[in-house]
Amino acid sequence: MKVVKVKDYDEMSDMACSFLIEKIERLQDPVLGLATGSTPEGLYKRLIEKYNDRKVSFEKVSTFNLDEYVGVAKDDPHSYHYYMKDKFFQHIDISMDRVNVPSGMAEDLQLQCEEYEKRMVDAGQVDIQVLGIGVNGHIGFNEPGTSFFSRTHIVDLEESTRKANARYFDSIDDVPTQAITMGIETIMDSKEILLLVSGAEKGRALARLLNDESEITEEFPASILKRHERVTIIADWEALNG
Ligand code: PGA
Repeated sequence: MKVVKVKDYDEMSDMACSFLIEKIERLQDPVLGLATGSTPEGLYKRLIEKYNDRKVSFEKVSTFNLDEYVGVAKDDPHSYHYYMKDKFFQHIDISMDRVNVPSGMAEDLQLQCEEYEKRMVDAGQVDIQVLGIGVNGHIGFNEPGTSFFSRTHIVDLEESTRKANARYFDSIDDVPTQAITMGIETIMDSKEILLLVSGAEKGRALARLLNDESEITEEFPASILKRHERVTIIADWEALNG
């Protein structure tokens, strides 16, 4: 894992933006794996700016998002569909038929998981997956204890995850209890991974990931990234010293 140390959130976002633009320019039909949450917001803002300055086009880009809440409709502002459209897709020239976000409203959720996997295979797999890390070490919504062999699946969210995401809802009781997420093996199938880590609250998780090279355990999902050949971590000072 390559670690790039930056000053703060802005520098992390700038660097992540340059990193992705370089891939988009180099690849024929880039397939991006995307994440939601606070961490990649600055990245999306910068990509939109670059698009507005005609420095990048997303015409040939396909995307696959990591996860979505179960039971939350696409047009609900709490959904990750809404987040992605609001913060990124509606501002760029991406074709919406190349955009993939799992549906947490599907009648048959298991079938939805299988179809999502198939769509990724048909697209030639994710070229570069953007990831954040949870305070408990989760990647996507793969909570501690999730099998390293998991594919896209339905998960029960941990209390710590629901608490961390309660800021987007009126109260913690409104935070969904389940989500659909790419599995750990699905994430590991991506050809390259870009992990973004910012803020002191992520300090413990980042230290655990970086300090003990030998620890690879399902109790700390992000630890699997040590087995991936192409991982770049961009981490800011607060996360590195938090
Ligand atoms: P955050 O979430 O970017 O909102 O901190 C990251 C995560 O939980 O994976």
